[in-house]
Amino acid sequence: MWKSMADQSYTLASRITLNNGLSMPRIHLGVYLMNGSEATTAVKHALEAGYRAVDSAQMYHNEKQVGKSISEYLKAHPDIKREDIHYTTKLASNSDYARARRSISQSVKECGLGYIDLFLLHSPYGGKQARLDSWRAVEDAIKDGEVKIGGVSNYGEKHLDELLASNARIKPAVNQIEVHPFNTRSNLTAYCQEKDIVVEAYAPLARALRMKHPSIVSLAKKYGCTSGQLMVRWSLQHGFVPLPKSVRKERIVENSQVGGFEISGEDIKTMDGLDEYLVTDWDPVDAD
Ligand SMILES: NC(=O)c1ccc[n+]([C@@H]2O[C@H](COP(=O)([O-])OP(=O)(O)OC[C@H]3O[C@@H](n4cnc5c(N)ncnc54)[C@H](OP(=O)(O)O)[C@@H]3O)[C@@H](O)[C@H]2O)c1
Repeated sequence: MWKSMADQSYTLASRITLNNGLSMPRIHLGVYLMNGSEATTAVKHALEAGYRAVDSAQMYHNEKQVGKSISEYLKAHPDIKREDIHYTTKLASNSDYARARRSISQSVKECGLGYIDLFLLHSPYGGKQARLDSWRAVEDAIKDGEVKIGGVSNYGEKHLDELLASNARIKPAVNQIEVHPFNTRSNLTAYCQEKDIVVEAYAPLARALRMKHPSIVSLAKKYGCTSGQLMVRWSLQHGFVPLPKSVRKERIVENSQVGGFEISGEDIKTMDGLDEYLVTDWDPVDAD
């Protein structure tokens, strides 16, 4: 679903309202495949550039360094408060309730930020019982003040249906899935939007695998932007929350400067047409 965003300039201060009434930034820094020291530096550069959201995970093994980098930035900038920063992390694997609940508490400890803004079940793997038990742990972590917002990742329609049909107390606010012009997942994204679940777009740059694609290069030229900026802007205009990752300061800045142009409806359609179901990492959306 594309709608004109002519009135939307998209800056790092732009926010999106979630189904629980809370809001979060429109653009997050992704920190997958960063070691601890890369994550420390990248988060510092991102916060200095104006990013206010970082997407980590237990599986990335950099929760501690991401949290520390955020804390150090806050200490150096007393005008910016903890609640101005949005920190996401994810459960490595779904399991029984007690293990999942302990694991969330461990993530809170690891980041040292006092609480987690957004906690996601990283994938639907583990089967129905483990998914629902782990979700109950997220709900209780919210009740206990350890987490503000709960969501899921790599959930297909059937996993969302299962959760929405269960006696869950809280509806997931987001589904974080791989989405970019080369893997548009148009049915799943439409389904999430219809259910008022925000789509967080991971690998929004298609892992840099299609930066030189002729259509991307020619549209980037038309709009006077880079291939990366074009893809981030495509994601935003679709209503998604992109999580571009870079360890390089200049790219971290570049990927966020997407406010100066608007992709036309026709060109959005051209980009949608590049879909080739390109999977850059894993693809758990059909898991049992
Ligand atoms: N939930 C999940 O299962 C899941 C799975 C995958 C990713 N994610 C999240 O989504 C985030 C983004 O996905 P991703 O890291 O896989 O891929 P991505 O953001 O699509 O692409 C990152 C790649 O693009 C390069 N790059 C960044 N900016 C660039 C630019 N302006 N021009 C050219 N190349 C550029 C990066 O290299 P340099 O770093 O060298 O700049 C890196 O190789 C992750 O970091 C993670 O937070 C979640």
